[in-house]
Parts: sequence; structure tokens; C-alpha cells
Amino acid sequence: MPKPRVFLTREIPEAGMRLVRDSCDPEIWPHEVPPSREDLLRAVRNKAGLLSLLTDPIDAEIMDAAPDLTVISNCAVGVDNIDVGAATARRIPVGNTPGVLTDATADMAFALLLAAARHIVPAVEYVRAGKWKTWNLQLLLGADLAGRTLGIVGFGRIGQAVARRAQGFALQVMYHDPGVAESPIAIPVTLERLLKEADFVSLHVPLTADTLHLINEQSLGLMKSTAVLVNTSRGAVVDHQALYHALKHGRILAAGLDVTEPEPLAVDSPLLNLPNCVVVPHLGSASRWTRNQMALLAAQNLVAGLEKRRLPNCVNPEVYD
Ligand code: DGY
Repeated sequence: MPKPRVFLTREIPEAGMRLVRDSCDPEIWPHEVPPSREDLLRAVRNKAGLLSLLTDPIDAEIMDAAPDLTVISNCAVGVDNIDVGAATARRIPVGNTPGVLTDATADMAFALLLAAARHIVPAVEYVRAGKWKTWNLQLLLGADLAGRTLGIVGFGRIGQAVARRAQGFALQVMYHDPGVAESPIAIPVTLERLLKEADFVSLHVPLTADTLHLINEQSLGLMKSTAVLVNTSRGAVVDHQALYHALKHGRILAAGLDVTEPEPLAVDSPLLNLPNCVVVPHLGSASRWTRNQMALLAAQNLVAGLEKRRLPNCVNPEVYD
């Protein structure tokens, strides 16, 4: 019996690749940059399974170009690149990779929080430029964490993991998430109160129509002029133009961004000229163990879909109703 044909929009780490090769006949996009729309439309045409990354927009047209498609497996927890409604309407299960990247992403949120609060990037540049002449009482003074307040917007798995880390830094923690009524380690508050009172604001919401540009000129205007904003969720949750103006004119102290709009951020983006903005290239889940586990989960979702089994992590379980 021939193995089912699948398209992988990139090679995935070995743990997942092994399972894909054992169970499927894969075509793998061989380049670092994502396939173009035309390439994607062509590649899915005769495939029963599609394994995508968050860089690949998968919409109704792509699904309709693949009449044999029985499963879409996204190698990410976020699925904003996929029209899940269109998949559900076609009874195609969509898989994602929750859980395994919680700690790595929470670690990155803290890395960015500390980097932004303590001017790590300008400090490294200062040393590299040979400007370090002596110990200086006034040099690159940053923000303290202990006793200050961290506001977490979106209190799911990753938001809660950030809260646990905050306890180790003696931060008070408040959160905004209408879906989580209470927590033993953080106080639920309105978004307005969080923005007004938090010294550090960390974003952990999925990108949806409701969260698009949730952080905009108005919300930045509510924040303290000493506040630090951290985004490890999706770039479009923050209006970058408004953020640029807030950082440039000292309306907030600093920002740490793992995600941008668009990705990659253009090298001439004005954000990159600001000393108080740390930008890294969407590395939240980029640890070896995590990426292997994501690949494995994505492969397991793919294979389950091909075998008409329930996906281990399915974002549209209503397809099974
Ligand atoms: C995800 O899985 O959605 C993350 O953004 C990847 O780091």
C-alpha cells in the first residue's frame, strides 16, 4: 500500500522528520524562505496532508486546491496563519503544538523583559565600541524588578508560566484575561487598570480580530512613562507605529519584541534605530528540546489525520461531531 503523500512547507527537526518519513511520502519545501502562494497551491494539489509553519498562510483557496486534503498540521501553537473556519467547513482537522513551548516562550519573555529593563543591548554595544573606561555610578541605569508590578495580558499556559517566573523575581503580578477568573499567584484586573498600574506589561494573547492592535496609541497612552512592554505573542497585537512614537518620545521606557509586524521586520524599520527597543527574530520557542517536541507533535497530528484518527492536539474538534 503506498504511503500517503504530504507536503511539508519546510524540513522539521529530526524527531518529527523520522515519524513523517516512516508513515508518509513527503515532499519537502527545500528553501529557508517559505513557498510562494503559487508554489503552495501547486504543491498541495495531490497531497493528503499538509504540515505548515506559522509563516505559511493557509486559506480556503489553498484547501480547495487540495481536494484530497485530510489534515493540516501547524508546527506552532498559534494558528492565526490558518483559516480554521474554512478548514472546519471542509471537515479538515487542524492540529497545533501547545504545551511543549510554554516554558521556552516564558523564558524568552523574561529574557526580553530583563534585556529591555537593564539596557543589555546598548550595554553590549558600549563594551564592543571600546567605550568602557571605568566603573561609572551613572552608567546605563535601568529599572528594578523586585517589588514592582508585572501585568500579564492573556493568562493561558504561557502567561501563567511567566507569572511563576515573576515570583522568583519578587514581582507582584496582575493579569487580564476574561477567561481566567482567579489565580493563586496573580490578581485579575481590567485591561485598563493593568496598563495604568503595571511597571512591566507582557503580552500572551493569540492574534484574533479582538486582539489586533490591542496595544495602540490609546493603550500605550495609559501606560506609565517608566513601563516596559514585552511581546512574545504575535507582532500584530501591537500597533508598531504607535509603539515607535511611544518609545521615541519617552511615553514608555522600553520594549522587548520577539514578534513583529510584519515578520521579518524590515531592516530599515525605525524601531531598530531605537536604543530602548530590543528586537529578536521570533525565537520564543527556539530551544533544541522544544523545537524537537513541536516537530514530534506536529508529525503526530499529521499522521493521526492521515489515518483518520483524532488529532492529539486539534484546534477544531467540532469536525468530529
Ligand atoms: C507558536 O508556536 O505559535 C510560536 O509563536 C512559535 O514560537
